[in-house]
Amino acid sequence: MADTSHGTGGTRTPRPFLKWAGGKGQLLAQFEPLYPPAFRAYHEPFVGGGAVFFHLAATGRLAGKRVVLSDNNPELINIYQVVQTAVHELIADLKRHRNERDYYYAIRAEEPQDPVRRASRMIFLNKTCYNGLWRVNRKGKFNVPFGRYKNPKICDEEALLAAHAALQNVEILLAPFETVLDRAKPGDFIYFDPPYHPLNETSRFTSYTADNFGPEDQRRLAAVFRELDRRGCLVMLSNSDTPFIHELYRGYRIDKVWASRAINSKADRRGQITEVVVRNY
Ligand SMILES: C[S@@+](CC[C@H](N)C(=O)[O-])C[C@H]1O[C@@H](n2cnc3c(N)ncnc32)[C@H](O)[C@@H]1O
Repeated sequence: MADTSHGTGGTRTPRPFLKWAGGKGQLLAQFEPLYPPAFRAYHEPFVGGGAVFFHLAATGRLAGKRVVLSDNNPELINIYQVVQTAVHELIADLKRHRNERDYYYAIRAEEPQDPVRRASRMIFLNKTCYNGLWRVNRKGKFNVPFGRYKNPKICDEEALLAAHAALQNVEILLAPFETVLDRAKPGDFIYFDPPYHPLNETSRFTSYTADNFGPEDQRRLAAVFRELDRRGCLVMLSNSDTPFIHELYRGYRIDKVWASRAINSKADRRGQITEVVVRNY
């Protein structure tokens, strides 16, 4: 019989293995009372670094459930698929990388076709690039400079193996967020962590993909949220604490959580800010 334990069988705790802008690792304790106590399937349509998925898996709440993780970043989805199906080949390939400037730019210039090589290249760039940023130019080519870290953990074997175990029987899809409507059924739990609506124009410091996520995308997302609500799904969404977001989700329960901004180009904007968690339950 298929093992649907999603990581409860291993001894290692699954956790994010990439540096990801907007990663929810620091918010997990504040999210704890906000999850629904019971649900059917779990969907995470902006999976990114997957902090919430790994946390739910580690705490046994996904055992035996259908789990669908998706994102519209093709390199990221390839990484998850390779960790799921070929983690040992990936680990072997990661071990060849070196944290050296010229080597970094040589690897950055490559365009490998093999999925394992592609995943290995992107994990290497993610661990050694400037600030762990993920930025691509208009042609979709990764363009972040070398990060000059002393001793980055390019191959975090333990985290990769734990993620591999947690990802067994998980559906991993390259898909825009709207497609969750094709899959979600009444009683399912959907957690949305979209690129945030900017607090102001200068805080538009990251670009996750070639396409920016603008106010129109936020509106389309709010429409998907309302449709899932009508359908009887349990829906939770993170975003920035701005008047625009409060207006979009008027009528739903909105809680504030405290976050510290780790990736920010302006040192004076570091520190604690509030974010919102919107729920329909
Ligand atoms: C804020 S990050 C998610 C952070 C993640 N929850 C974590 O803990 O690391 C947003 C993600 O949305 C993805 N994304 C951006 N636009 C999208 C779209 N239209 N459809 C699906 N995913 C999208 C990006 O590739 C990125 O991984």
